[in-house]
Amino acid sequence: MTNKLKYFIANWKMYGDLKSLKSINKVINFVNSNKKKKIQIIYCPPYTLLYPFSKKIKNTYLELGAQNCHPNFEYGAFTGSVNPRMIKSIGAKYVIIGHSENRANGDTDQIVNKKIHSALKSNLTVIFCMGETLAQKRKKIAMNTLKIQIKKGLKGLKRNSKIIFAYEPIWSIGTGLIPNNPDLLKNIIFIKKFLKKVIKFKNIKVIYGGSVSPNNIKVLNAIDEIDGYLIGGSSQNSKKLIDIVKKTFK
Ligand code: PGA
Repeated sequence: MTNKLKYFIANWKMYGDLKSLKSINKVINFVNSNKKKKIQIIYCPPYTLLYPFSKKIKNTYLELGAQNCHPNFEYGAFTGSVNPRMIKSIGAKYVIIGHSENRANGDTDQIVNKKIHSALKSNLTVIFCMGETLAQKRKKIAMNTLKIQIKKGLKGLKRNSKIIFAYEPIWSIGTGLIPNNPDLLKNIIFIKKFLKKVIKFKNIKVIYGGSVSPNNIKVLNAIDEIDGYLIGGSSQNSKKLIDIVKKTFK
């Protein structure tokens, strides 16, 4: 049982078309009938669905975010790219930056840093992803990896910029595996302390991502320090998403 505000970020990845929009009706109804609970659901569909989503969720309690952005704040000749100003202009308020699937496609810490600056300048709230690989976990250098990602990713930022931090161990994304609770708690606390001490952030929100499902949410939610969840696979199924939210507040 929790009384804290919890974020549920639905990362649809490269799934979904106009027909899938109908599936969120259930979630809209659910949130409307649970107004007193501190639930913040943020949908992050592919770029192609951002505008229809923004129309769909207007006057609901749902929010909208993009899954990535181009590092440039200015418009320019970047074929196939979308910058944070464009994302903001259609009514989205959030953007995921530094997701491991994009880091694997070439997003270095420096690029991540540039994207964050540009997104904040566009007045978007950043969902900043970090996490270690299985090899790094085995070598017991997970915390060091997180430290580097945080330091380089946040370089030059003002204290208390609008950022939600997402801890996503890479080995748990899409695998059905989740960290054991002592390890997860240790890493969440480490991230919060490091941000507070070194970067002097206050009121830090750290969410967890990686194979979150209705089957493991109770176990994860035993950790009160977790401020919400970044949900991939399970978020494309409204029933599963609602189940996750319900179990968080039970
Ligand atoms: P998953 O994805 O829930 O399918 O593991 C999470 C993510 O990549 O953000």
